Amino acid sequence: MTTLSKNTAPAQTRTTSATPAPVLSVRDVRIGDRVTDREIVHGVSFELTPGKVVGIVGESGSGKTLTCRAALGILPPHFEVTGGSIEIAGTDIATLTPARWTALRGATISAVFQDPASYLNPSIRVGPQIAEVVRVKKGLKRREARHRALELLQAVHLRDPELVYTQYTHELSGGMLQRVLIAAAIAADPRILIADEATTALDVTVQAEILDLLADLREQAGLALVVVSHDLAVVAQLCDEVLVMRQGEVVEHGPVEAVFHDPRHEYTQLLIAEHEQYGLEKFLTPQDPS
Ligand SMILES: Nc1ncnc2c1ncn2[C@@H]1O[C@H](COP(=O)(O)OP(=O)(O)OP(=O)(O)O)[C@@H](O)[C@H]1O
Ligand SMILES: [Mg+2]
Repeated sequence: MTTLSKNTAPAQTRTTSATPAPVLSVRDVRIGDRVTDREIVHGVSFELTPGKVVGIVGESGSGKTLTCRAALGILPPHFEVTGGSIEIAGTDIATLTPARWTALRGATISAVFQDPASYLNPSIRVGPQIAEVVRVKKGLKRREARHRALELLQAVHLRDPELVYTQYTHELSGGMLQRVLIAAAIAADPRILIADEATTALDVTVQAEILDLLADLREQAGLALVVVSHDLAVVAQLCDEVLVMRQGEVVEHGPVEAVFHDPRHEYTQLLIAEHEQYGLEKFLTPQDPS
């Protein structure tokens, strides 16, 4: 029996009793550095169905971000997928032309990274930047796009959307900026959102609010999420499944409850021991003794 306790009935699984088709399949993906001819990521596999949340944890430099970037088709220069396959909504991304990628990015798969500054233009007000995403990706007219951008700023629980619309990135706090980024990332109604350390820089209260927001999106829109975090409590709270990475390898992969309650690999045991002080327990439901 599997005990996926918290989040077993996301919105979109209602329509069919069979397992829904995956929106993202990552199969034994290997990533290499062309310059040094070294393999950096040695085979990562996971599957996302609508409303499912997969977490990736593990030490710095273990390949979490590279794995995410591979799925988004934005590996840094001289990195390449050297093995395995990635499918987005049934399409192998190796077959995508640049034009198809442009259509897919934002509209089907989208991402929020830790460094907001690099994704928003500091010299343009944030509202028009979101409106532009909506205009280009959803084909809305300027006025409708503005209206939609305001709705999105509201949806990410920014208190004064009209004001934020007219502000520049330097006028916003870290938490506000992160919300703006999420608004931009979900502007074209993606089916998959990758959140790579998206809440790391934020204080605990703001972080909790952003996590609630992601959980809402998953419930309401059936958004599938990949959540990369150093914080095991975040993963415990939000994810169905977790991958534990070390030095480019997935050392453990399974339902969050199982992995965090009964870690098999010594590295996972170490990670959990380190996190015990943060009160990981309170995010895990008690194991069914049966
Ligand atoms: N743009 C880049 N140029 C050169 N090397 C890189 C680049 N991005 C990643 N690497 C290397 O690839 C390896 C994996 O990096 P990656 O960013 O995926 O790690 P990570 O698990 O996301 O780490 P962190 O938790 O610190 O974000 C690291 O050894 C890193 O040095
Ligand atoms: Mg990273």
